[in-house]
Amino acid sequence: MRRLLCASAILIALCSCSFGAEFTQGPADSITMPPGNRVSQTMLAGNKLVTFRSWLDIPYVEKPIEPEYQRLNVYVPEEYFNGESVNGYTAKTAPIFLPNGVGGYMPGKQFIPANDSRHGTPNASLYALSRGYVVVTPAIRGRTLANGKAPALIVDYKAAVRWLRHNKDRLPAGDTEKIISDGLSAGGALSSLLGATGNAKEYEPYLKEVGAYDERDDIFASAVYCPITNLENADMPYEWIFNGVNTYHMGPAREMDENMKAASEALKKEFPAYLNSLKLEGHTLDENGEGTFRKYIEGLYVAAAQKALDAGENVKGLDWLTVEGDKVTGADLSKYAVWATRMKAAPAFDSLNMKSFENNEFDDKHFTDYAYRHSTAEKPAMADAEKIYLMNPMNFIGKEGVKTARHWRIRHGVKDRDTSLAVPAMLALKLKQSGYEADVAAVWNVPHDGNYDLPELFEWIDSICK
Ligand code: DHB
Repeated sequence: MRRLLCASAILIALCSCSFGAEFTQGPADSITMPPGNRVSQTMLAGNKLVTFRSWLDIPYVEKPIEPEYQRLNVYVPEEYFNGESVNGYTAKTAPIFLPNGVGGYMPGKQFIPANDSRHGTPNASLYALSRGYVVVTPAIRGRTLANGKAPALIVDYKAAVRWLRHNKDRLPAGDTEKIISDGLSAGGALSSLLGATGNAKEYEPYLKEVGAYDERDDIFASAVYCPITNLENADMPYEWIFNGVNTYHMGPAREMDENMKAASEALKKEFPAYLNSLKLEGHTLDENGEGTFRKYIEGLYVAAAQKALDAGENVKGLDWLTVEGDKVTGADLSKYAVWATRMKAAPAFDSLNMKSFENNEFDDKHFTDYAYRHSTAEKPAMADAEKIYLMNPMNFIGKEGVKTARHWRIRHGVKDRDTSLAVPAMLALKLKQSGYEADVAAVWNVPHDGNYDLPELFEWIDSICK
């Protein structure tokens, strides 16, 4: 019976059912989203059939520079057209899930509802629909487009939020005061930027340039996975963790050269001064990189291992982790780095040869003092200070006139070597210190990845929305 149900569900999923689409897409301002729109689709999410209606490829700015990207899709659970509720939400109260598909600071495609073969589960958009969320998926400009360098990605994500507010009475469903962003890696950086910088006036000229609507762009909550963020300060904590491990694994394993090793030494030593400059209460480092902040990071690894152990996973036999009976009692960061292995040569983000993803994001320029002074590039150049500033959520948390998202969930895999766990941890501590709610954790056995724990993610979102 179950097999029969699955087979027919798959059949339905494969055919997008159209009942005569009268919906026309005029100029962005005259967009109408009639409840009578009859384009609907059914997909199998886990063992649940999910039916939803879609409005596709709507420009979210009035003067798009990259029209292929500055557009979004809106997806609405079918129940809301019949006056029904899903998961306790109605057409009026359903939160709006706003995932971005950005990775590697590349242009981000729309995060369309689908089943995710990598995790063997529905993807975040489809899963959100199954739990009664309205899903809005903007495509976003990225570094390989002529007009996609910093700060284009955050300008676009903000513009999508403004489009939602501008059209709030025309949306078939969804509460524009309950917008939740989501992304991983560079997309996690983007999600944290959107959450941190609500209504910050510094982005205004860029928003005007693309014809973003004159609306607020603050959001309710941010879901952030392994964010490649705080870029101009991320090289130091990378070396604070990985210094002493000289083989790196970007492609085939290679040895760091003398310049890279010197960078590792210098950047590691610079980290305590940066960390202490954040004035995170109860979290400091001495000049050797020891102190309460180090204990805090080790504690995040201990908590991740304890959770895994409690769930029956084997976390024993690792020389960096102390397990006594059914208790994980310690983590040793210096041994952790040998176990995790180093992915990137020093400096990890602002490369000496000016050729990293992040250099490319900043117009093929340096963005740290260290790499600029020690550059091996033919013509070293420094990125525009304003652009570096606009790309860092840390600059906006607690700033006057900025409305930062109230709720945050930040996750980072224990096996992630793309950036140091210190980066999301500093973000979370700064948020908490500024009065926001930040739920931060490392996750056992997880590499550089995101959206791998959708039931938990959406339990959290439900808990803050209801
Ligand atoms: C991503 C990963 C990186 O290691 C990086 O430096 C930038 C972006 C990513 O997966 O998005």
